[in-house]
Amino acid sequence: MNILQIIAKKRDKQELSKQEIDYFIQQYTKGIIPDYQMASLLMAIFLNGMSKREITDLTLAMAYSGEVLDLSSLGKIIVDKHSTGGVGDKVSLILLPLVASLGVPVAKMSGRGLGFTGGTVDKLESIPGYQTDISIDQFKQNVKDIGISMISQTMNLAPADKKMYRLRDSISCVESIPLIASSIMSKKIASGAQKIVLDVTVGDGAFMKTIERARELAHEMIEIGKLANRETVCVLTSMEQPLGYAIGNQLEVIEAVECLQGNMPEDVKQVVLSLGSEMLKLSGLGDDLRQNKDKLWQAIQEGKAYEKFLTMVSTQGGDISYLQNSNQLIKAKYMCPVISKESGFVQAIPAEQIGKITCALGAGRIQKEDQIDPSVGIVLHKKIGDYVEKGEVLATIHANQLSSAKQAEKDLRNTYQLGKERKQIDDVIEII
Ligand code: URA
Repeated sequence: MNILQIIAKKRDKQELSKQEIDYFIQQYTKGIIPDYQMASLLMAIFLNGMSKREITDLTLAMAYSGEVLDLSSLGKIIVDKHSTGGVGDKVSLILLPLVASLGVPVAKMSGRGLGFTGGTVDKLESIPGYQTDISIDQFKQNVKDIGISMISQTMNLAPADKKMYRLRDSISCVESIPLIASSIMSKKIASGAQKIVLDVTVGDGAFMKTIERARELAHEMIEIGKLANRETVCVLTSMEQPLGYAIGNQLEVIEAVECLQGNMPEDVKQVVLSLGSEMLKLSGLGDDLRQNKDKLWQAIQEGKAYEKFLTMVSTQGGDISYLQNSNQLIKAKYMCPVISKESGFVQAIPAEQIGKITCALGAGRIQKEDQIDPSVGIVLHKKIGDYVEKGEVLATIHANQLSSAKQAEKDLRNTYQLGKERKQIDDVIEII
């Protein structure tokens, strides 16, 4: 098979055969096809799209580029969750210990930050000692012993996605339905999920900016799920503004711990309970979504979810004393308040811009080799619908360099939009 012909075919808007897709993915995974040739195929897919058949073939080729776990020996239905990405999205850190505390086994393979969005793995790694790259045997053992394990993609699970994910990030090829759908579904299939709940984010801080695009992505992933025999439910949630108040790795872990202790911002609560109630339903633990939400909230209030989180962290080598007393964590050197120069109701906090400001502080990667600074980020004090008096603090910037703090302060003040009317947004938009 000829590599250049395959790239040219997609460049010229033709459909690739299953054999061509399989060949390209296998050779890329082995390192025979170099990054620059994969980069041009990705750009061609980004620009010209793929048919449904091509997307399914791509997903399966990526899923089977490494090991595909069979977790059926656990004797329980494995329901996995994934988000299409967002800003301040710490949902996995809260939701997964929560459902695990109710007996749903969690075997979760998460990603790193992508584009302006954060990644669960970077957040987990900001907990001193937490190992995201444990062996597959240890991963399975943890799920068996304590009902939960959250890892990165460092093992031989969907290795093609791991390489492609980083590459897409460095060549502006992220916001593509075929590429997002295949990336997410390949990871879910490889990590042994039997049923899948997807948080499809919509709005300024999501890769899908409109409800129509989000629906299209959701239907694509449901279709792949059907063909791969994995029942899939999509919950469309708002990413117009950052989720919760904290953005930045360590800051989000601290907020997640507060949420697990029952102090959950309303938007986080709506999203966590909606996704969680669908996960319980798919697990066979109850068809009544209202009752499922009550059960989940009770597990938070009884401290079961927080306990499960601590157990998971310590099992994976993390030092839970940092979670029990977050003052021990190394904080950023500078904390700069962003003061409002006017009064009014917050109308918008464009989340993409907030994600970019946070990345520029060092919380995300600009180049694929960049190191993450776990301590930096932003804590919002005002969200959409809140009233702000002139002189009040809108947000606090956590930075390690004075110059970047000053730049972030300026950018952040310009990002907040105030007006006369109180604006409201729906946190959970629809379920497909
Ligand atoms: N999450 C993923 O795992 N892949 C994407 O492409 C986007 C979000």
